[in-house]
Amino acid sequence: MTAQERRPVDVVLKANPAIIEQFRAGLLARLRERPDATEALRSLGRVCRTLGNLDEARACYERLVALAPDDTAARHAASVLRGRPEPSLFDPNAAMMPPFVHLKEFLPESSVERLFEAVAGMADTFRPSAVGYEEDRRIDPERRRSVTAMANDRVRALVLDPVRATIAALGLTERLGVRIGPDGPVMTQVHCHRGGDFFSAHRDGTNLRHPWRELTFVYYFHRRPRRFTGGDLYVYDAGLSDELRVDPMAFTRIEPAHNSLILFPSRALHEVAPVACDSDDLLDGRLAVTGWMRRSD
Ligand SMILES: [Fe+2]
Repeated sequence: MTAQERRPVDVVLKANPAIIEQFRAGLLARLRERPDATEALRSLGRVCRTLGNLDEARACYERLVALAPDDTAARHAASVLRGRPEPSLFDPNAAMMPPFVHLKEFLPESSVERLFEAVAGMADTFRPSAVGYEEDRRIDPERRRSVTAMANDRVRALVLDPVRATIAALGLTERLGVRIGPDGPVMTQVHCHRGGDFFSAHRDGTNLRHPWRELTFVYYFHRRPRRFTGGDLYVYDAGLSDELRVDPMAFTRIEPAHNSLILFPSRALHEVAPVACDSDDLLDGRLAVTGWMRRSD
């Protein structure tokens, strides 16, 4: 048995999108024969999400809703993929895709340049990223590999202020179903994933670990042309409860596009796929400013 064969099926599939592309081709063929085959459409929507073809996935769910208007999960998926999650369609205790909003071209280019300068200036403060909570906190390279620095005032001003303004302007607390105060406390870090780095599936906040975390935002930026491959974000169809069983192939793949911001409830299960990068330079890696906003009760 080779090492490849010993790996779980989902790990092999995730590393070989060509196999999933074959599923997609089969489903497209079925839908050419039977355009109203709702099960095939549902499967195609899911397959497109695992491939990161989110416009195609959205079109599948919109077709599905037209054929089956009572399909709440499809209506929910369509609303999320349109960038306008409808909280009334989402059940946090069901194995549904969590709501998220991914905004492209988030900061003006002048702010991105200043952000690179700010991160370069704090390069010697990065440390290996930890997992666990309080006394259980530790470095575990089997679960997480990357480096982390606490954001300084410059980074916070460049990213956090526009994030707060956007949450208010787009009504994202309602859309994402989170309870946060407009100026509530936020913990902000800068993360860099370089060659071989990843973060296995986890929830940023649970009843047991970081229970105060309510809303996660991640601002992605990187040098152009991009010096790395991989590092996609997987958001699992695992509701917001760690009581739920997780299907490891039910997820939405989101590319960490330069100058984009994603926001999701901190209880959503997510993962950072492995990064490949020849350079060891911090600024050549997959850079992210990540913040967690505190729940207001
Ligand atoms: Fe996370």
